[in-house]
Amino acid sequence: MANSLTSLSLCQLEPEQLAAAVELDRKCLGGLWSEAGYQREMESPNSDLLLLCTDHRPIAIGCVWAILEEGHITLLGVDPEFRRQGLGQLLLCFLLRRAYERGLEWATLEVRASNQAALNLYNRLGFQSVGERRGYYPDGENALILWNKGLRDQNYLIQLEGHYRHCRKRLQDSHWSLENILPTQEFLTLSRKS
Ligand SMILES: CC(C)(COP(=O)(O)OP(=O)(O)OC[C@H]1O[C@@H](n2cnc3c(N)ncnc32)[C@H](O)[C@@H]1OP(=O)(O)O)[C@@H](O)C(=O)NCCC(=O)NCCS
Repeated sequence: MANSLTSLSLCQLEPEQLAAAVELDRKCLGGLWSEAGYQREMESPNSDLLLLCTDHRPIAIGCVWAILEEGHITLLGVDPEFRRQGLGQLLLCFLLRRAYERGLEWATLEVRASNQAALNLYNRLGFQSVGERRGYYPDGENALILWNKGLRDQNYLIQLEGHYRHCRKRLQDSHWSLENILPTQEFLTLSRKS
């Protein structure tokens, strides 16, 4: 792997990838959504379900729901084989960019209080803990409620572009080919989504 480049692409879930998405979900999120759940997300106009793929194989998955002016990040997971390279951060940049494109004002999510990896990642991208839901998870663990209230702040998108640039460079400097991934100079070029 060290000498050959692996091509990365950003995709929206296609019907033929449903089984692979459920398998990835099982591997990195412990089986959060079923095939029917992913099917619903594909069809929902309020949902952006994004994948990072190598040769059509999903290796990272994330989803944001638009509810009124809020972007709810409902899942984010990276295949354990590909963690700690910047893929989670790259995908989160894309999810937040989508939320911005939709005109949303805030982003929010719940995360296990013990999930330091995710907390570090979300804090870096501007999320702060504002409270907790006690015994939220089936095993009784508390969830922290994170909010990013600054989506529409003047400099937020520019800061996000900086994170995106950093991730892109980090991936490019390892074994990833990013020809199919949005160039940094186009990150601030937005399409209006409703
Ligand atoms: C959380 C998760 C998505 C991170 O994905 P990833 O691709 O490994 O993350 P990145 O490589 O983009 O890391 C970005 C930053 O997050 C933090 N981070 C990621 N993994 C970490 C770890 N194991 N320990 C501490 N911090 C970590 C670091 O700040 C890291 O930056 P750095 O590498 O410059 O130190 C991944 O660990 C995962 O899929 N976990 C299981 C599912 C999950 O918990 N999802 C979140 C639920 S809300």
